[in-house]
Amino acid sequence: MARRAPIGYPAATMTQSLPFIDLQAQYRRLKPAIDARIQAVLAHGRFILGPEVAELEAALSAYCGVRETVTVASGTEALRLPMMAEEIGPGDAVFLPGFTYTATAEVPVALGAEPVFVDVDPTTYNLDPAALEAAIAATRRAGRLRPRAVIAVDLFGLPADYPAIGAICAREGLFLVADGAQSFGASADNRRVGGLAPVTATSFFPAKPLGAYGDGGAIFTDDPARAEIYRSLRFHGSNNADRYEIERIGTNARLDTLQAAILLVKLGAYPDELARRTAVAARYDATLPAAIRRPACVEGAESAWPLYVVETPRRDAVKAALAAQGIPTAIYYPKPLHFQPAYARFGAGPGSLPIAEALCAKVLALPMHADLDAPTTDRIVAAVADALG
Ligand SMILES: Cc1ncc(COP(=O)(O)O)c(C=O)c1O
Repeated sequence: MARRAPIGYPAATMTQSLPFIDLQAQYRRLKPAIDARIQAVLAHGRFILGPEVAELEAALSAYCGVRETVTVASGTEALRLPMMAEEIGPGDAVFLPGFTYTATAEVPVALGAEPVFVDVDPTTYNLDPAALEAAIAATRRAGRLRPRAVIAVDLFGLPADYPAIGAICAREGLFLVADGAQSFGASADNRRVGGLAPVTATSFFPAKPLGAYGDGGAIFTDDPARAEIYRSLRFHGSNNADRYEIERIGTNARLDTLQAAILLVKLGAYPDELARRTAVAARYDATLPAAIRRPACVEGAESAWPLYVVETPRRDAVKAALAAQGIPTAIYYPKPLHFQPAYARFGAGPGSLPIAEALCAKVLALPMHADLDAPTTDRIVAAVADALG
């Protein structure tokens, strides 16, 4: 029977017999607790900034090992509010990888700033620090834009190289935001995502590592003064103690109480979920043909495994062969951002980001979720091996 695709995943991939991601299996496991939490919100009726929101923020801060969590309406808002607080706008350059989802780049553009696309490391797929330095220097030389900020993305769940990127930002006087939309729960050098950069944004989009049943996101920081501003910005710029005192131009970017209630249950189950996904990734790692490349493991870092991505020059043939066997796959991302019509004017054209351009022609995401059992993983691996001949 055809399955409904979760929003954000191509429907075509879900008409196959295996699910690409199985949110229903997770709900079946957590149903009594989730249903009870939803009922509790319906009973108290505080749908906006109800008690579950503060409870979730405290639980997220404890899990991520940070002082402050500000929940917001989406991962995009989690990126936008810190940029608004820094008053990033016209004339400013924001450096970000060319191999990412559009949300990373749309935030600076929406604020009137310009994205400067930077190439990625061919082994981790994350922002290449040397390319970042070169892009900052070139932007300063050209003189048209003022370098202001860097958004580093933890692509496919692996933290970016924050020690190197943080040092560049400190030296250049740039504001650093970690786009951890795909990496909630990942870690590097014994610190979880949230504590790897001065400010981190994450997403609770349903298919993300920690997913709500709707949109949601959070900002993590160790800086209470920043958190205070983000809380004000998410509530129309109002004073946090007096909602009718408007201190700044803000927006409506609050997380719904109902989503906070659901996320509290899912956060409790998250260590188990992450362990299960990590075990699926380990099985793929151990059994896929050695010739098929995948993002490198980085010493001291643990991925959040939202996806399991492989690289093959015969990507389209492998995708078709798997589809014929009822195995759905997806391509994240088919084009680097500077090849997208909406962003072409900010980029330097074909050949300007050779690694990102090559990856977009080779990457393929295999099914990945906590309920993928060993026989099914083995079936997928066998299908990939067959397709590669
Ligand atoms: C890298 C990246 N950044 C930002 C976002 C935006 O998150 P949201 O969809 O919650 O706005 C996403 C996901 O959609 C993403 O993958």
